Amino acid sequence: MATLQDQSSCFKRMPLIERYREFMPLTENSPIVSLLEGYTPLVRVDRLAGQISDKITLYVKFEGMNPTGSFKDRGMTMAISKAVEMGSKATICASTGNTAASAAAYSARAGLVCAVILPKGEVALGKVSQSMMHGAKVIAIDGNFDDALRIVREITDSYPITLVNSLNPFRIEGQKTGAFEICDDLGHQPTYHAIPVGNAGNITAYWAGYKAYKEAGRIDGLPRILGFQAAKSAPIVDGRPIPNPETIATAIRIGNPASWKQAEAARDESGGLIEKVTDEEITEAQKLLARTEGVFCEPASAASIAGVIKKAKEGFFTENCEVVCILTGHGLKDPERAKKICEPMIEMPADTNEVAKVMGLI
Ligand code: F0G
Repeated sequence: MATLQDQSSCFKRMPLIERYREFMPLTENSPIVSLLEGYTPLVRVDRLAGQISDKITLYVKFEGMNPTGSFKDRGMTMAISKAVEMGSKATICASTGNTAASAAAYSARAGLVCAVILPKGEVALGKVSQSMMHGAKVIAIDGNFDDALRIVREITDSYPITLVNSLNPFRIEGQKTGAFEICDDLGHQPTYHAIPVGNAGNITAYWAGYKAYKEAGRIDGLPRILGFQAAKSAPIVDGRPIPNPETIATAIRIGNPASWKQAEAARDESGGLIEKVTDEEITEAQKLLARTEGVFCEPASAASIAGVIKKAKEGFFTENCEVVCILTGHGLKDPERAKKICEPMIEMPADTNEVAKVMGLI
């Protein structure tokens, strides 16, 4: 019978953590649970850059192209592989939706039972449907993400269930690969790395990834990290936990990030910043990217673009530089939001003349 490893490596593309094996905490006997994640496109977006600043060469790393449609798969392949190696039978996470979708999928792939704890009514439709479809036990609580994370911590303290939030160090290890890919694609590190910040695992992982690549001599410098939180869910910027965070970017609707200190370290060590963008700026950026470049990301992801637009308006980019924006999840995750912010479709009879009229041809 084929092992999981055989199944994943029967095509040209190898499992992500295999590709970067020397940087991963794998042993010779580690099973590899993979859906052939990673290898996401780093797209140069000149038309968009032209509207933002004449100083920047802009790239977007489209993490929506991962198997479950978000960057979470990079960490989940590592976390679930380790869970299997350690003999775990069950996984659990708190989630604003994407971690849950990824945990559900990779747990299914490994034959593990999975439970996901979500803030009721605050998770985008695409994400909930993924968790349900992959057979996870989907539990929606009367509370926010921070409440869900507290519950998950308490449960994993008392029961033999593997926590697969980014508190699980293997998640961070896997997510470092995003930084490796950017440097491999560019041939060097970017000047600036712009990224949305929620629970702050990803900013932590990228910074660790860049540092590991520098230590290994693969790059000769480090980027400055630009983190962006949603204005009413910006605990790191405000310097205090937010009890009732709000934003249309539900993925980053988080008031007390688990990796708060590590995010501050990434900001300070890199000479970067963490700032806020409003829901209006996020929405504008999401539409602008989709309409000028054909790239559809989810609202939280657009916080990275919104942040770069904001900083450009402030005159932040004074010299020619390369900026990489991480687009953390696919726009199809949140179709309801897209429908809400676009012009309604035109419904009409099946009549050629009428259609031509509406098109302005007649
Ligand atoms: N963008 C998207 C699309 C996300 O789903 C998340 C986090 C972030 C950005 C922020 O990343 O938490 O590492 O700072 N989503 C988590 C979840 C919280 O449960 O899916 P972070």
